[in-house]
Amino acid sequence: MIIKIDKTIPSSEITDPELFRNRRALLKAGMVSALLSPTALLADTSTSPNSSDWSHLDVADNSLNRGNATPVQVVKNYTNYYEFAFDKQGATHAAQALNTDHWSVEIVGEVEKPCSITLEDLLAKQTLKDYVYRFRCVEAWSMVVPWVGFPMKALMDRVKPLSTARYVVFTSANQPEAMPNVRKNLMLAWPYTEGLRIDEAAHPLTLLAVGMYGEVLPKQNGAPLRLVVPWKYGFKSIKAIVKIEFARNAPLTTWSRFAPDEYGFYANVNPNVPHPRWSQYSERPLSGGFFSARRKTELFNGYADQVASLYDGMDLRRLF
Ligand code: MTE
Repeated sequence: MIIKIDKTIPSSEITDPELFRNRRALLKAGMVSALLSPTALLADTSTSPNSSDWSHLDVADNSLNRGNATPVQVVKNYTNYYEFAFDKQGATHAAQALNTDHWSVEIVGEVEKPCSITLEDLLAKQTLKDYVYRFRCVEAWSMVVPWVGFPMKALMDRVKPLSTARYVVFTSANQPEAMPNVRKNLMLAWPYTEGLRIDEAAHPLTLLAVGMYGEVLPKQNGAPLRLVVPWKYGFKSIKAIVKIEFARNAPLTTWSRFAPDEYGFYANVNPNVPHPRWSQYSERPLSGGFFSARRKTELFNGYADQVASLYDGMDLRRLF
């Protein structure tokens, strides 16, 4: 298999140099496919009939400069993964128990081609690219991450949602034996679910990610397949996806069910709509440590020129 990521900006520009050297060494030693097996990550673009379908999605315009990326070690060690633990380091550690072998994703609901797709099959027809996106957590910290993935729209083109599909509902893996808080039925309604309106899901910024920093996605960051919606608070970017349902009606998602007054369905980043218990006016970029200068939060996390029209005429305070 030819190992190739089609990227707009070379990994060498953002990845910390040691990591990049390691990756090169792995590639040279022909070890990458072994590393990624059985869920082979990287598509052979020479046999990628679909790539032309979405090549019009101009990722360069959507990407930040990779020089802004948060150090990879920070992103890997400061994670929210409530199935495993309620603290960031604990979640990172405990998530290593997730079993990502033989992964497949069920596609169900209002769709022409319901199916169960193995990750390998899903990726075989995609060209993977780097997308450098801002990521803003509802807890008011932020980072910049170079994801590796493909637009959700490419999957939609493949499975063909029916005209009756108005929402997309995503469900995370349910592995009680590996997930202490699921096993003990603590705090949230498991499995973790999230949802988007169908036009949000089809927006070119919305990604299915399988990697970051040019590497396969670490377990704690959502391996083997996660959603990334950069203009929404991070809790929308669901990890370890096993099911995608095309639905007629808006789903009741995990956080909205838990605290409807605090976590809305839309969860668009908005400095003018405070969380009931804290301001969303500014954020703490993770790269600079706990006492680093705060940054003013931007409407739609800085992607307003690309996504604001999705919400024309909507009251963003009421539909937060
Ligand atoms: N997905 C699942 N399945 N479980 C979770 O607890 N946390 C969400 C989101 N996706 C979460 C999840 C939250 S609150 C955030 S901020 C982001 O993942 C964090 O992503 P990261 O840990 O890769 O930074």
